[in-house]
Amino acid sequence: ALVRRTVFVTGAVNMKGCPTPDRGEVAFIGRSNVGKSSLVNMLTNRKSLAFTSKTPGKTQQFNFFAVNDKPDLERQIRFGDDVPGSKDRDSFYIVDLPGFGFAKVPQKQRQQWSDFMEEYFNSRETLKVVFHLIDARHGPTDEDAKIMQKVGDILDSKRTQYVVILTKADKNVKGADSEKNPGKVSKSVLEKLTETMKAHRVGYAPIVLTSAQTRLGRDEVWKYLRLAAEA
Ligand code: GTP
Ligand code: MG
Repeated sequence: ALVRRTVFVTGAVNMKGCPTPDRGEVAFIGRSNVGKSSLVNMLTNRKSLAFTSKTPGKTQQFNFFAVNDKPDLERQIRFGDDVPGSKDRDSFYIVDLPGFGFAKVPQKQRQQWSDFMEEYFNSRETLKVVFHLIDARHGPTDEDAKIMQKVGDILDSKRTQYVVILTKADKNVKGADSEKNPGKVSKSVLEKLTETMKAHRVGYAPIVLTSAQTRLGRDEVWKYLRLAAEA
């Protein structure tokens, strides 16, 4: 099994709040409601490790989850099974970020998250992979394009792998019966995506189609998680 045990470690609102960078790490970014937290649950085989919601703006901090965390027997007895232990050989952190682009989150808060993300990208030396989630039905928005710009500027020079994930591939897309053909994405969305990526110097990045519901794309995403686990 790729994943044995995953525990919530901490929610951070600034660099000081992040756990000690003692293992590889991957981050999930994208618009509010695109399915970041749902994908984290799917990848770790958990129902509600990361909290999800129909309403955008659910995740409010940079939530760190330790995958393949080593249980600490003494702490387990004292505090229960769901507490962080220590670093196992193939342990890594998954970081679930607050979404961007949700109008109801106050501007000040959004700016704070955006500043934190930039600083995090710039200075988190254990960050191995950044997954940028985009809704498979809609393709990239202006805000997604801005994020690609940032990624092109920052991550490129840091050898952090950047991966685009198209989410909710189980949902119906125009011109494709996704009930019968799960994992369809329309040609126009794919074209717009690749154009936007090229225009922002991230045309090299892989694109993975996923569904938290059907578990489509799980193995493909795990290929990149392994980069962090082996770091
Ligand atoms: P924020 O925390 O607000 O940034 O949102 P998020 O990106 O973490 O989204 P979340 O995982 O909370 O999912 C938002 C909604 O989309 C929930 O109602 C999920 O059930 C739904 N959802 C997420 N992934 C999928 C998917 O692959 N298929 C379907 N059908 N629904 C999904
Ligand atoms: Mg979330």
